[in-house]
Amino acid sequence: MVNEDPASSPQPHKRRQRYSGKNPRRFEDKYKEHGGDAETVAKVIAGGKTPAGTHRPIMVAEVIAVLAPKPGDLAVDCTLGYGGHAQEILARISPGGKLIGLDADPIELPKTEARLRTLGFDETVFIACRSNFAGLPQILAAQNMTGADVILADLGVSSMQIDDPGRGFSVKFDGPLDMRMNPQRGQPASAVLEKIKPDALRQMLADFSDEPHAAQLAEALAGKKFSSTRPLADAVRAVLPRAGRGDYDPTVRRVFQALRIAVNDEFSALDAFLRNLPACLKPGGRVAILSFHSGEDRRVKKSFEANHRDGIYSDIAREVIRPTPAEQQSNLRSAPAKLRWAQRTQ
Ligand SMILES: C[S@@+](CC[C@H](N)C(=O)[O-])C[C@H]1O[C@@H](n2cnc3c(N)ncnc32)[C@H](O)[C@@H]1O
Repeated sequence: MVNEDPASSPQPHKRRQRYSGKNPRRFEDKYKEHGGDAETVAKVIAGGKTPAGTHRPIMVAEVIAVLAPKPGDLAVDCTLGYGGHAQEILARISPGGKLIGLDADPIELPKTEARLRTLGFDETVFIACRSNFAGLPQILAAQNMTGADVILADLGVSSMQIDDPGRGFSVKFDGPLDMRMNPQRGQPASAVLEKIKPDALRQMLADFSDEPHAAQLAEALAGKKFSSTRPLADAVRAVLPRAGRGDYDPTVRRVFQALRIAVNDEFSALDAFLRNLPACLKPGGRVAILSFHSGEDRRVKKSFEANHRDGIYSDIAREVIRPTPAEQQSNLRSAPAKLRWAQRTQ
């Protein structure tokens, strides 16, 4: 039989061109696992890293233990990301349960929705919603829901966002200095830096990443035009002698973190979320929050303690819960994680 459709005729197998050097600078070379080669993916995971285009959920067992999702529960994952936690919660709330997954990111959300659908979670059990979690009360109202049994927020950015140089979060690879979780809203980091005055930048670096050299950095960076991430990283290194080893420079990371928090107005969203939380939980409902730096954890701790004192939460985590040493070793990105939980009074 002659096959006349060129799209379906067998193509000669082409080997993917391999990078032959030792220190790849290009994202595509470094992240060969993008191609889905199982051997490379296994090697990446064994090295404590995350295969590109995926996200390894953090402290899953601990999150499930504190949230205790059960069949029939209404759950909200406020930071759906790759859907790693959502997938585990979904497996425990059926039959009869439903999970609403929110994410601010219009690029990754449809991919995660499609991934969870292929795992069998249809619209009767899982709804994906592109939204900021600051608006959780409105989202529940739109779904005719008065409150949730379990709520999860795993703060910050996903590995997919960090690892994609085109999003501008990457310290390692050059890309446009953007950093918006939702690139359709707000201003890219380049515009924020170009407009900001030294005093405001100093404050931002001190408040959002506890930067010890905030004044010195602010003087050098405020009002400057950086169209991509690498020149910014180089400018930071020019101000301060490099403190870290290899790729890791803590000052560069703190500058990037502060900018990302500012660009996405992350603390305002977290404060609104924490204020709204009690009204979004059913009596007896539980919330778990994973945070990744002191500015986030301070806010969560203060809010939980204040609501506990006022009798709004019947119980809260007395101590912060940390990833096991084994998890920290097997997933380097889990190392700074801190988990806190609270339960609404019956
Ligand atoms: C650490 S990842 C979550 C990973 C997820 N738990 C998993 O297992 O795949 C954080 C996600 O939250 C989203 N996000 C951050 N702040 C948000 C906000 N204020 N509202 C909605 N989504 C937010 C980010 O876009 C990102 O996808």
